[in-house]
Amino acid sequence: SAIFLKDYSVPAFLIDATELRFELGEEATTVHSCLTLRRNPASDNATAGLTLHGAELELLSLAIDGNTLSESQWSVSEETLCIAEVPDQFELRCSTRIYPQKNTSLEGLYKSSGMFCTQCEAEGFRKITYYLDRPDVMSVFTVEILADANTYPVLLSNGNRTDVETLEDGRTRVVWHDPFPKPAYLFALVAGDLQAVEDTFTTCNGRVVELKIYVEQKDLDKCEHAMLSLKNAMRWDEQVYGREYDLDIFNIVAVDDFNMGAMENKSLNIFNTSCVLAKPETTTDAGFQRVEGVVAHEYFHNWSGNRVTCRDWFQLSLKEGFTVFRDAEFSADMGSPTVKRVEDVSLLRSTQFAEDAGPMAHPVRPDSFIEISNFYTVTIYEKGAEVVRMIHTLLGPELFRKGSDLYFERHDGQAVTCEDFVLAMEAASGMDLSQFRRWYELAGTPELDVSGSYDAEQGRYTLTVKQHCPDTPGQTNKPPLHIPFSVALLGEAGALRLNLQGQEADSETADNTEMVLHVTEAQQQFVFSELPEEPVPSLLRGFSAPVKLHFPYRRDQLIALITRDTDGFCRWDACQQLGILEMTAAMESAKAGADYQLSADFSGALAQLLADDSLDKAMLAMMLVLPSEAYLAEVFKPVDVHAIHHARERLRRQLAEALREPLLQTYERCQDAQPYQANAEQIARRSLKNTSLAYLMLLGEEGIAQKAREQFAESQNMTDRLAALTTLVNNEDSAKAEALMSFYQDWQHEPLVINQWFQVQAASSAPGTLEKVKSLMNHPAFDIRNPNKVRALIATFCVQNAVNFHREDGAGYAFLADQVIALNRSNPQIASRLLQPLSKWRKYPEAAQQKMQAELKRILAEPDLSRDVYEVVSKSVSS
Ligand code: ARG
Ligand code: ZN
Repeated sequence: SAIFLKDYSVPAFLIDATELRFELGEEATTVHSCLTLRRNPASDNATAGLTLHGAELELLSLAIDGNTLSESQWSVSEETLCIAEVPDQFELRCSTRIYPQKNTSLEGLYKSSGMFCTQCEAEGFRKITYYLDRPDVMSVFTVEILADANTYPVLLSNGNRTDVETLEDGRTRVVWHDPFPKPAYLFALVAGDLQAVEDTFTTCNGRVVELKIYVEQKDLDKCEHAMLSLKNAMRWDEQVYGREYDLDIFNIVAVDDFNMGAMENKSLNIFNTSCVLAKPETTTDAGFQRVEGVVAHEYFHNWSGNRVTCRDWFQLSLKEGFTVFRDAEFSADMGSPTVKRVEDVSLLRSTQFAEDAGPMAHPVRPDSFIEISNFYTVTIYEKGAEVVRMIHTLLGPELFRKGSDLYFERHDGQAVTCEDFVLAMEAASGMDLSQFRRWYELAGTPELDVSGSYDAEQGRYTLTVKQHCPDTPGQTNKPPLHIPFSVALLGEAGALRLNLQGQEADSETADNTEMVLHVTEAQQQFVFSELPEEPVPSLLRGFSAPVKLHFPYRRDQLIALITRDTDGFCRWDACQQLGILEMTAAMESAKAGADYQLSADFSGALAQLLADDSLDKAMLAMMLVLPSEAYLAEVFKPVDVHAIHHARERLRRQLAEALREPLLQTYERCQDAQPYQANAEQIARRSLKNTSLAYLMLLGEEGIAQKAREQFAESQNMTDRLAALTTLVNNEDSAKAEALMSFYQDWQHEPLVINQWFQVQAASSAPGTLEKVKSLMNHPAFDIRNPNKVRALIATFCVQNAVNFHREDGAGYAFLADQVIALNRSNPQIASRLLQPLSKWRKYPEAAQQKMQAELKRILAEPDLSRDVYEVVSKSVSS
């Protein structure tokens, strides 16, 4: 049964204060709550009884104002507790028993490697005690924790620790008080045998904040990078958004078993170990960057999420989209902005565009859901961030900052909506965003069809822009969106001055060579005058809107963009487009049984880039990589994964042959004797080096294989080591087994490294990988209860290994369905997430469709489907 945004009503009761007492035990945990409740004056339901949320709870006792309630005075269902008659203002005491040790859903209170921890967003708090578990009910929390002093020396909750004592029975009792009212989803508790790395941060107003990262003893040497990232994020938020931290303590705790990346609980962030631990020997460059990004993301939530929170879960992107935009800008400032942008756009175009085109398509602000956990999606997060970015582009940085200041000032301490965010941006800037709001309401990826024509006599260049947004489940005939369309016109000697006729455009660059066009109608023309030569249009610069752009570029125009555009994103994207032209030609040849030969202009352009020492190495590395199979699966219809894979592999080999010399030189030039640092310069160097190596290995030369084996054996950092292992696994059948074995032996004590070991094997395009994955599931290091392991082995196979997952006999589909069924009850969130690749069945050729659908139907026929899995399967089957 779905829940609808249009049915929203304010809560009938408010909870001014929440006092909790946890008695943590080895069998069970008792939770005593004391809630100070009163009727909500804003509710028109003045006589309502009290209905609280609660799931999987054993109710022990219930009292109002000191009077124990008899069983006739309340009733419980699977998910609620109702008390028919209550006063207007009262104190409700409730005791429940829960079993964290048996909680495999990793939602609510659970145990992970010996420690107690919580995950309450979105609706996990109701698995701890009966409560108004909705984000618009904000309360001041006081939390008492009692636990055995030896087993759980560290006892944490939100806010400040106000009391601690050792009891005679060998337990410790601590009390935590959080002065900021907050919704239950931001509550957190941790109890364990943990050690902390400590530091301090002094805020712009001189508040000294104690920073602690709590980990298991063995991980104390992997916290430095997270701590540095945290301090950088705290400073950045002061400088860029004027946001200062508001308590004297900020804690981070690392846990092994976690459904997502991390959680922004007030002053007690809980992290998946994979998003906080890092050191050069065990962590790749990508891993370091992920830690930096996630630490910043959770920290930024303190303002965009906690101080100002969401009214209801339909508004999830209010905090997630905004916070992802904030963390992306932070990462761009800490490293290479263009690289960060290209990475984000790649993810959006492969994953979010696919979501928009599938059965789970939903707007950035959804209208309905069955299970909110299914809506922690790339649409809410990444497309949501693009929507905020577009506002930033339309307003410009100064007005955007005025808007965010006003938003925080107006709504501090409130639970608000996406509309409130847009209203603040409008009020501060004077800009009319009424049409722009459709970005929040419409699902689907808008398409822009653009053409250009040059009138030499008049010196005019006309861009004709058409937009349309395809139908999605429940939404047809969509009105046009307000699309910020950033453009420049390149001449032989550089970008040309823009003189736009008639229409107004904002955000011109100082030299008038770039501007943001307002595309607002289904069809529109933009005429530029005083152009002495036919320009090459550089369009959607910086990916100024999350749309599919079509422009009939000639090859020479793409090469002009690749070699001379001043916008890094557009240079890279022109490379991708040329790659797609090559792929299209190669696939057509293959179909006709002919051999395709890579075009000389393409390899020539790449050779020119390789020879250009001034080009950012990370950019160059990205430009060398052909469009990913995942992106190509968004470009070609229907998706023939085998044809795509084989054509792409053939082109890669031909590129390696054509570029052998410059690639070899580049590989040598990028060797680095300096001690490892995760800075942009070194990361770029390693990225280019390992991209070169991956190409060179396709040549099958013993001399090159020797280099890879040396790099594998000798490198001191995981980036180089894993890159070498990957290429050995993919190309060197003789060295493969030994490399995998020695890697395992070296790193079996490090679970995060073993995840990478699983991943390399699961991603191998070699035949027989499915059988390999199945046998690895019996490996002692595998654990289906640990989400990181499931992602490393099973999800990697199903998402990043198209040729094996889409085996023609359908065995990949059956395997996935089996895993979904196995996880459905123990961990519904992970089961539902794993299921996604099957939901995209419509994209594939008829024979594959039928096999995929059959597996979906098999899952749907299972008894006791979780809401999470049911929603995805039922929407997939019926679409
Ligand atoms: N709010 C968290 C973040 O984006 C993620 C919450 C995880 N929620 C969940 N249902 N598993 O940082
Ligand atoms: Zn978030």
